[in-house]
Amino acid sequence: MKKTFLFVLVLLTALQPLKADEGMWLPLLISNRIGDMQAKGFRLTAEDVYSVNKASLKDAVVLFGGGCTGEVVSRDGLLFTNHHCGYGQIQQHSSVEHDYLKDGFWAMNKDEELPNPGLTVSFLQRMEEVTEQVLKGYQPSMSETQRDSVVRVNSAAITKSINDPEKGIRSSVEGLYYANQYFLFVYKIYSDVRLVGAPPSSIGKFGGDTDNWMWPRHTGDFAIFRIYANKDNEPAEYSKDNVPYKPKRYFTISRKGVKEGDFTFVYGCPGSTKEYVTSDEVRYIGNVSDPEKIALRTQRLDIQKKYMSQDQAVRIQYSSKNASVSNAWKKWQGEAKGLARRKTVDSKIAFEQDFRNWSKNNQYNGLLDQLSSLYEQRNPYFRASEYYNETVSTIELLTFANRIYTALEAGNPISEIAERFYKDYYQPIDEETFVAMMQAFDKQMSSEFKPSYFTEKLSKYGSIEAWRNDLYAHSLFTDKNKVLKLTKEELSKLDADPAYEMYKAFNQWYRKDIQPPISRISRDIYLAYRKYMKAQMEFQPDKAFYPDANLTLRVAYGKVAGYSPSDAVYYSPVSTLKGIIEKDDPNIFDYNIPQTLRDIYAEGGHDDQPVCFLATNHTSGGNSGSPVINADGELIGINFDRVWEGTMSDLAFDPDFCRNISLDIRYLLFVVDKIGHAKWLLDEMSFAD
Ligand code: ARG
Ligand code: GLU
Repeated sequence: MKKTFLFVLVLLTALQPLKADEGMWLPLLISNRIGDMQAKGFRLTAEDVYSVNKASLKDAVVLFGGGCTGEVVSRDGLLFTNHHCGYGQIQQHSSVEHDYLKDGFWAMNKDEELPNPGLTVSFLQRMEEVTEQVLKGYQPSMSETQRDSVVRVNSAAITKSINDPEKGIRSSVEGLYYANQYFLFVYKIYSDVRLVGAPPSSIGKFGGDTDNWMWPRHTGDFAIFRIYANKDNEPAEYSKDNVPYKPKRYFTISRKGVKEGDFTFVYGCPGSTKEYVTSDEVRYIGNVSDPEKIALRTQRLDIQKKYMSQDQAVRIQYSSKNASVSNAWKKWQGEAKGLARRKTVDSKIAFEQDFRNWSKNNQYNGLLDQLSSLYEQRNPYFRASEYYNETVSTIELLTFANRIYTALEAGNPISEIAERFYKDYYQPIDEETFVAMMQAFDKQMSSEFKPSYFTEKLSKYGSIEAWRNDLYAHSLFTDKNKVLKLTKEELSKLDADPAYEMYKAFNQWYRKDIQPPISRISRDIYLAYRKYMKAQMEFQPDKAFYPDANLTLRVAYGKVAGYSPSDAVYYSPVSTLKGIIEKDDPNIFDYNIPQTLRDIYAEGGHDDQPVCFLATNHTSGGNSGSPVINADGELIGINFDRVWEGTMSDLAFDPDFCRNISLDIRYLLFVVDKIGHAKWLLDEMSFAD
């Protein structure tokens, strides 16, 4: 009897769904979490994670470019990130003759590594709370404008004393928790970062946009770079004389593999979350913003796809653009559904009811009503601005006209801008997009949110199609040779160019009629949130609050875990090469694997080759390329995605649905070895086992 009871108890515990671990914590304050991390299996100390006195894991993590993460994996500055993070660079080096997107790229020695002007990696040197310094001189009696200027002056003084562009040192002061606290972040930025290796897209982007944001997943989403420095190991612009960067710390790689329940820890730079907003914001995002933007992008994607499937050159030209349009499009779909499924608006309203009761007799009374009325004022303008961004601003000819005009005006050279643009421009796509987007703008915006320029032109032409015909027939910007010959003296002529004229008219309308009310109201909203954030902390004194993501370095920990996306379905957390072969289909672009991979598989013995795994780490956009680390601080994977059903975690984390997707590091090793034959890279890495 007793035994049965114990057995049932054990069974119940074992069957309990694994709960995900919400939170993206500041490394500086990791000592507050280290007890919990260790209780969940972590075997290192807070000092191992973050330290300014000795080398720690943070010294092996970088902000890659402007919005991804990367990790250093050798004493010679070798760096891993995602294929989709290096996509722009891989594409820049590609042409129909050398198609590195299609065929992959493998440097066979350091001399073959490819430079990428403009690409940087930023190491966080230290962070520090500076609230007191930033608010020095601030009196509670001051107005918000006065507070702002105190903050601005003090922050500028702090960063000015630290910044040293010559040495690649840049710092910033960030207001976290809606500027209830201020933190200083000091970065060292390296700007010679070379491409070392990338798998063919049929591996690095396997599953394409069909599998993007989904499980089961089999994408080998990695790319390899190397950081270079001058002879003193300091940042320097690209030069043949630069040498591989010697890191303070690099990751050791574990080949032991993962299984359900294993501790995991993601160290990276999530971009943006809104965990503490009111039901008003969630309602707007889930019911208005997401569905409307999804509908507009569906049209653009259909147009791009039509032309891309007809012509290999167009496919290369639009691959990067198409991927980025599609990426948010799919994320928003999961987000809107997830918010609806878990009734986030209702649960926020219930929370707000409790909050209202609590705040009846304190200084926060009325705060939620104030926020509601601010949202009511903001939303129509905000919606117009989202339409502007998703319609007019997506017409390539218009934004290009503006880039050229601005460069000429500033006396800057235009040839590089023009060459870059025309390399990836296909006019039929742009023309069809123009018609679809301007028709949507016409239909969805009420007349008070249309510039008079638009209404006048439309009535002059009679239809968007007629407008399109005239625009593309008469704008000089469709003609590369004419653009390349432009000089500053001809600026006045450009004022009358139909593409530039349209860009300018819409832009002026936006800046005069739309942007100012949004800025003003958003500022008030932000200020109200500063109070609301503080109030939430007082209202829930026992809750551990983490600041919303803002591309600063964070720690998210959890464990390897599957999930159940719907009734009677359970997804286990590890995918293998067997699944790639199951999906393989030469007739479907996204699932057509390289012949070499088929041949390797046919040799036998590779069924269990791991490819990707799921875990419960709280991640967001920007965490792409982040190191996924085991209980001993060793590298076991590279984060690259979340599951679609969990993308509402940017607003509300649901432990049952939110999972991050990582590449199993052993698949990277497999591809580098068997597809890339780049053994020299494996020799450079160091392995824990
Ligand atoms: N969803 C991932 C992220 O947000 C991967 C995007 C790139 N992959 C793609 N198929 N578009 O960045
Ligand atoms: N792929 C995303 C990125 O670029 C990470 C996925 C996510 O949003 O979690 O950062």
